[in-house]
Amino acid sequence: MKIETFELERWMTRHELNVKYDIAESGVFPLSLNNLLAFEDPQQREALLERLINLRLGYNEAVGTFELRSLLASTYENCTADNILVTTGAIEANFLVMNTLLNPGDHVVAVYPAYQQLFSVPRAIGCDVSRWKVEAEKGFKYDVEALKKLVTPKTRLIVMNTPHNPSGAMLSAEEMQYVYDLAESVDAKILCDEAYRWITVPGGDSFAPPAFNLGPRAISTGTFSKPFGLPGIRTGWVAAPKEIVQQCWFMRDYISLSPGKLNDALAVLALKHREAIMRRNAEIIRVNLDMANQWINSRSDLLSWKAPRGGLLAMMHYNLDIASLELADRLAIDYSVMLAPGSAFGYEQYLRIGIGQNPQIFKAGIEAAGRCFDELRK
Ligand SMILES: Cc1ncc(COP(=O)(O)O)c(C=O)c1O
Repeated sequence: MKIETFELERWMTRHELNVKYDIAESGVFPLSLNNLLAFEDPQQREALLERLINLRLGYNEAVGTFELRSLLASTYENCTADNILVTTGAIEANFLVMNTLLNPGDHVVAVYPAYQQLFSVPRAIGCDVSRWKVEAEKGFKYDVEALKKLVTPKTRLIVMNTPHNPSGAMLSAEEMQYVYDLAESVDAKILCDEAYRWITVPGGDSFAPPAFNLGPRAISTGTFSKPFGLPGIRTGWVAAPKEIVQQCWFMRDYISLSPGKLNDALAVLALKHREAIMRRNAEIIRVNLDMANQWINSRSDLLSWKAPRGGLLAMMHYNLDIASLELADRLAIDYSVMLAPGSAFGYEQYLRIGIGQNPQIFKAGIEAAGRCFDELRK
């Protein structure tokens, strides 16, 4: 498979080891193993640690342990462990779903701009990809009427992502149902990347039920990277009808074979403490959102944004005569702060900001970025 370069990843790799303040970060400030264990009852903690360090690190069950799959299944309706495949992050989950469902020449409608994988992989497969745009001019909202105009009898898959990376847009329950019905009308399937599931934002929207709950033509993908602050365990999943789970599994035999055994055990632990971890996230998000709003309002001649409706990401508009890539490079090199260039998403005059970072780093990051903007304003 020949595939185009993942623009944002390449840009991130250029700077992420050199900057002090990464506020382009798309996840929540990561947990350490110690933080994760601290959610356990003190009496259980020692025993659990003992179990983890004595876990024999052989190959894991290829689909993920029954325990992890059952816990994940319980977060959906009418879902059993057989509907879940544990994967190497949501990125593998999306890759497997697209590669099992699609053939060259198929028509796909994919959200755009987006996490690039969502439209570049179908393109690499040889599909004809139409872009379902989340437009800045329309206030970064999903427009299901625009989707209707893109879907044709040849459409095989509709790819969406809610909450949306990079804009923080969300699909309501009614809109999700509308998309499902539209897919049904042409015998297509839907793939909903729910990497930011469970991450609510004060003043934002409430979450629609996950796509899987809508019926047999809907597939949800999820991850421990964003909502659980555990990108280092590289664990995600597919929630899909059993036949699709099986096809994805058979393809994964050629890619990563099985999820890591220790990662699987840590994912079980994280799910057990999901509510406490979401409370931790909520506090980080509340503090950073307040700081971001104040910071942007204090430079309202230069900066504006539509805060995320859910998830962690939003596009911030700037009123300066400089291209976003040049500005993002300057911020990284001269001010040690990372804000992702809008150009990587097709939004020029924007930078992508993430509100999941450690609040102290976030504060120092916006202050450093503020100095850069003040300098440029002169
Ligand atoms: C929308 C979206 N999907 C998938 C991924 C991949 O995440 P994971 O770490 O689970 O592979 C990301 C990561 O940034 C993302 O933003």
